[in-house]
Amino acid sequence: MTTLIGISGSLRKASFNTALLQAAIPLAPVNVTFVAGTIEGIPLYNADIEREGVPEPVQRLKDQIASADGVLLFTPEYNNSLPGVFKNAIDWVSSSMTGAPNVFAGRAFAIAGTSPGPFGTLLGQNAWLPVLRTLGADLWSGKRLMLPKAGSLFDGDGKLTDEDARARLKTFVEAFAAYVKRKTAA
Ligand code: FNR
Repeated sequence: MTTLIGISGSLRKASFNTALLQAAIPLAPVNVTFVAGTIEGIPLYNADIEREGVPEPVQRLKDQIASADGVLLFTPEYNNSLPGVFKNAIDWVSSSMTGAPNVFAGRAFAIAGTSPGPFGTLLGQNAWLPVLRTLGADLWSGKRLMLPKAGSLFDGDGKLTDEDARARLKTFVEAFAAYVKRKTAA
């Protein structure tokens, strides 16, 4: 069984990226378990707090990533870059101050995202590249998923109603899952 974890980089209740993650989960192929992680409850990174003990929401996310074969980041774009709250969460998980192993090294990562603007998180996704490279992640670049005009893709309940977007999301998830399967079988 292949396990994927998806993480949305938004704390907003009506987040388009969280809605995209939720839409992606049932599109996983058979024999693939796809679960959602969350950055909810993660405090601002502070080495003093870490020294006293890794906060529970950080440890939970770290354990989820460690137990997954592949990780999908659903990133919003802020000011043509990545959102601080998402980077903060990844910084927490990546910190090796307490001697914990690097859960990013060699693990398959994919990046996707949606925004109300015309470029669908193009620059937000690009901003993740040096971060993931620094962490030694195995960045999958087999396909790209940048969905623009998010406001017209979802209904009022956050359901992905745009058929083209749904088809692209399915292709993306299936291709990443196939990559992760091949990698873990090797
Ligand atoms: C944005 N937004 C935005 N969108 C975009 O396509 N490019 C950008 O550079 C920015 N910059 C930006 C900065 C800040 C501070 C905010 C708060 C917002 C809009 C953003 O894409 C929109 O709020 C999305 O809805 C955020 O994603 P979620 O929360 O819906 O997942």
